[in-house]
Amino acid sequence: GRKFFVGGNFKMNGTVSSIKDIVHNISTAKTDPNTEVVVAPPALYLLLTREHLDPKFEVAAQNIFDKPSGAFTGEISASQLKASGINWTILGHSERRTVLREDDDFIASKTKSAIEQGIGVILCCGESLEEREKGTTVDVVTRQLDAVNKMVDKEAWKNIVIAYEPIWAIGTGKVATTEQAQEVHAAIRDWLSKSVSSEAAENTRIIYGGSVSDKNCRELAKEKDIDGFLVGGASLKPAFVDIINANQ
Ligand code: 13P
Repeated sequence: GRKFFVGGNFKMNGTVSSIKDIVHNISTAKTDPNTEVVVAPPALYLLLTREHLDPKFEVAAQNIFDKPSGAFTGEISASQLKASGINWTILGHSERRTVLREDDDFIASKTKSAIEQGIGVILCCGESLEEREKGTTVDVVTRQLDAVNKMVDKEAWKNIVIAYEPIWAIGTGKVATTEQAQEVHAAIRDWLSKSVSSEAAENTRIIYGGSVSDKNCRELAKEKDIDGFLVGGASLKPAFVDIINANQ
């Protein structure tokens, strides 16, 4: 079976003292040992988080650049993360696709760079409300995944977790219904089987993000193709522990 995976995306939130509190709370809580937990603070707090988080949990960056080092002001590389004990990164988050204008190919190039350095990738995909209403959700998501698949080898998918995050559900309190999420997760698994391998379809975690809360996580976790969550707002709160334990 696929190990349940819960990521906390703090986005651009927190201070030294609030991050310490959140990390301490997660570290000392009673959490399901069968769930993999990865937290993604702002870059400024990656090392602080690594220092204070229980070693059984992992830390993720929210982004990387696709070159190993050099004259790239403001950027951080996969090799720098690896050398600092940060073993994961989120890539392709919709906020970076829209606000920072990242395109599919750039995200694919960054995914390749992360995988080559041994950094796990939480690869985000998802449609806008307009795209959903036009009926193009699966086209959009598979286009985003195809771009990555063109640039990495089949083995890479062992170190990728796919996060399906419908944009209209992010930060809106408007969570996808269990049926809406399951339908897209199943389509992604079908894409994995056709475009990568049956092994990748069987083993790749497909997690859901978008207004996940301690109230809705248990129903979503019951769906057969929902293997965990990527949590924004609620990951900053004590309720994050209930989401980590949603599969118990
Ligand atoms: P919210 O949980 O705040 O809706 O954010 C979801 C998200 O974007 C996680 O990456």
